[in-house]
Amino acid sequence: MKALVLAGGSGTRLRPFSHSMPKQLIPLANRPILEYVLEDLRGLGVAEAGIIVGRWAAEIRAAIGDGSRFGMRVHYIQQDAPLGLAHCVQVAEPFLGADDFVMYLGDNVLPDGIAEVGMQFQARRPAAQIVVQKVADPHRFGVVEIGRDGAVERLVEKPAHPRSDLAILGVYFFTAAIHRAVASIAPGRRGELEITDAVQWLLASGAAVEASRYDGYWRDIGRPEDVLACNARLLGHLRPAVTGEVDGASRVTGRVVIEAGARIVRSRIEGPAIVGAHTVIEDSRIGPNTSIGRDCVLSHTDLAGSIVQDGASISSVRGLRSSVIGRSAAVRSLDRGSPYHRLAISDHVSLELAG
Ligand code: DAU
Repeated sequence: MKALVLAGGSGTRLRPFSHSMPKQLIPLANRPILEYVLEDLRGLGVAEAGIIVGRWAAEIRAAIGDGSRFGMRVHYIQQDAPLGLAHCVQVAEPFLGADDFVMYLGDNVLPDGIAEVGMQFQARRPAAQIVVQKVADPHRFGVVEIGRDGAVERLVEKPAHPRSDLAILGVYFFTAAIHRAVASIAPGRRGELEITDAVQWLLASGAAVEASRYDGYWRDIGRPEDVLACNARLLGHLRPAVTGEVDGASRVTGRVVIEAGARIVRSRIEGPAIVGAHTVIEDSRIGPNTSIGRDCVLSHTDLAGSIVQDGASISSVRGLRSSVIGRSAAVRSLDRGSPYHRLAISDHVSLELAG
């Protein structure tokens, strides 16, 4: 079985981060989301994956390479404009040929893996096998209606008034029957060729479409709050390892990774947390649920439930919570007693100041 990984798209809901990096490379527990995707695919026995790339093709190639690190061959497939998930299948048809494949959205994270559904698909080979989970906000997703007998009855993309609370996850298993479906549908309301419509087309044409319920943890990294929640979850899977330096006046508790070359001085690190290589933390209190990238400098800071990306610096800021700080960003307090805030922030930044 081949894999098709979707890493194009525009990522507008993740601005400002998506101005400077593709959302599929946003770090969770200090590793780009796409690495988790490829590891899950390796668990399915995939040996060859095509990655759909758009304007961030160069960055994605640089991060993932030829796939050998993940035990597979990776091909890059250029999509000139983000015209929809089904459009990705069309663009990838020369790579996919007549093979069965798993389509995995590059912004979906399933730390518990998808191997079991993969085995069900391989045993039964319906034209399409989708994966579903009950959600509180189905209007944000593709939604599936399932009959009492468990049969798939209808699929609708982001309905305003959902008739079911079962969302379609971003992992789909297909036989080559999907190619005729994507060639037969028209763009939907948002102007994109929707994969949900292609699967609905298969269903209407009498092909076998099956749905598996998924009980594991699943997040679609659409908004900053999803990134933070998923980061916390993945930190909980870390194997503790302290290879950096921790001085005698510091305390490290819980599930913590401190990478080589990092230095912790007079600070407290509470897990789950990760501190990247060559980062220096002084007189600070960090964690829980916090990742700090490499080459950062934090001093006199109190930070929890947050992500600090590579090269950022934070100085004398107390009470930072649920924050995402971009690469090489600098945050510092002005001198005590200053009545003002001073900001130099770029487009689409969201800032919430206390008091
Ligand atoms: O996450 C599950 C949901 O994913 C499903 O419930 C929906 O039915 C499905 O349409 C999809 O909805 P989203 O609105 O979340 O899709 P998004 O536009 O975020 O794109 C998903 C991934 O595919 C993302 O990694 C970007 C990539 N993509 C997207 C488009 C539109 C491409 O590579 N090319 C594209 O043209």
